[in-house]
Amino acid sequence: APPACTLVIFGGGGDLTKRLLVPSLYDLAESQTLPQTFSLIGVDRTAMESGTWRDGLRQMIESFTQDPDAEFSATSIDDAAWGRLFANARYIAGDFTQPALFETLRDALGDGNAIFYLAVPARFFGGIVTRLGEAGLLAEQEGGAFRRVVIEKPFGHDLASARELDATLLHQGREAQFYRIDHFLGKETVQSIMALRFANGMFEPVWRQEYIDHIQITAAETVGVEQRGAFYEVTGALRDMVPNHLFTILCMIAMEPPNILTPEAVREEKAKLLQAIRVLAPEDYVRGQYTAGSINGADVPGYREEPNVSPDSTTETYAAMKLHVDNWRWGGVPFYLRTGKRMQARQTEIAIFFKQAPHRLFANAPSHGLTNIVRLLIDPVHGIQMHFDVKKPGPGIDLASVYNSFRYDDFFPKTANVGYETLLYDCMAGDPMLFQRSDAIEEAWRIVDDVLKQEKSQPEPYAAGTLGPKDADDLLARDGRAWLPVG
Ligand code: BG6
Repeated sequence: APPACTLVIFGGGGDLTKRLLVPSLYDLAESQTLPQTFSLIGVDRTAMESGTWRDGLRQMIESFTQDPDAEFSATSIDDAAWGRLFANARYIAGDFTQPALFETLRDALGDGNAIFYLAVPARFFGGIVTRLGEAGLLAEQEGGAFRRVVIEKPFGHDLASARELDATLLHQGREAQFYRIDHFLGKETVQSIMALRFANGMFEPVWRQEYIDHIQITAAETVGVEQRGAFYEVTGALRDMVPNHLFTILCMIAMEPPNILTPEAVREEKAKLLQAIRVLAPEDYVRGQYTAGSINGADVPGYREEPNVSPDSTTETYAAMKLHVDNWRWGGVPFYLRTGKRMQARQTEIAIFFKQAPHRLFANAPSHGLTNIVRLLIDPVHGIQMHFDVKKPGPGIDLASVYNSFRYDDFFPKTANVGYETLLYDCMAGDPMLFQRSDAIEEAWRIVDDVLKQEKSQPEPYAAGTLGPKDADDLLARDGRAWLPVG
């Protein structure tokens, strides 16, 4: 278990805390991987007794145990685990924008280890860090206690604002104190990419432009913007998903092997990969917006009819792009990325399309369907699937495409994983490997900064429940390629 610490959650009454942070912390408590001495402090604006806060969270988590669709896998709450999590818990009501709250926190924390988790809207990030710094809460503590800050996404809304936020952070603390979180790195298949690539002699030699034709990264969702219209209107699919989640996956797939498995060695390789990506050109970028349609047989409204969305909104709910990685490994291999809300199916995955064999011996008996592809399945299925050709049984030589598939659930006992367990654990243990360094974040914004300016132009409509706009298909068709099917 990591060393003793207090976790202070700004936004302790918010959605992220309820849906993801507390369930993940509960899973850590249950598996005995919380620090032996652990305190939780929830901070938010609403006045509330600590008991009321705790009871509300308990009720929420109890309801997840009854919900077959919840990611939370426990079917009942273990009182001992709950006790370990909430033994020293308290709620502090206060205004994040006023120094008084930070003085209360200073008294509560003394000179012990502390993590400040900013589970609040992004506009508060800079101000909270400044006040933490001004109250001395990020300074070296007598006795050497650590002080870390976890920052949610979005980190800035373009390159200039990300730089500004980084400058604010680094004015108050050291880079090593800031843990910029990207929950895609908490996903099991994403964490497994390094093992797949670098622990198996059969993959690494072919993981390069000589053998790979192109790579596709898909994050298709069936959900719409739900109650997040106000946030989404000024964010859009590109900012919400691409420079953070999709680029994180891209780094794992395409970075060079680190020489050693230390956080800095890995983060260095990720930053170098991003440096090699060419600024996204407008002709390689497609924006879409969903209109009314139907998902799994149920009618759903269009984006412009959603709550807190303008009836003539130009915000994109779908983004697709072609990226070029200008380095020795990937020169000439396009990376196609797409993400969208209200698509036909939920499917997050990476597909590696290999080149044709150099001589087409079976040109007269081609197989139909997916072949010559390795697929890393991230959500909702977790696993790896390989598609290849075999000869159809019987006389004659006809090829057929088949696949074999690895599913985590078939090999390993199902572990409780809401999504933040590993990341929270790593932060408590002081391992920043899975967190984003400032230079990587800034490189990511550099790549998309030009096309962000298109946000006032009309996105191409696509009906909810479909595969996204036609322009996205054309983007690949121009190169003689097609998207992997979704659903
Ligand atoms: C979040 C985005 O960061 O990631 C959401 O803000 C999106 O819009 C979500 O739905 C997707 O994450 P996951 O884990 O559900 O695939």
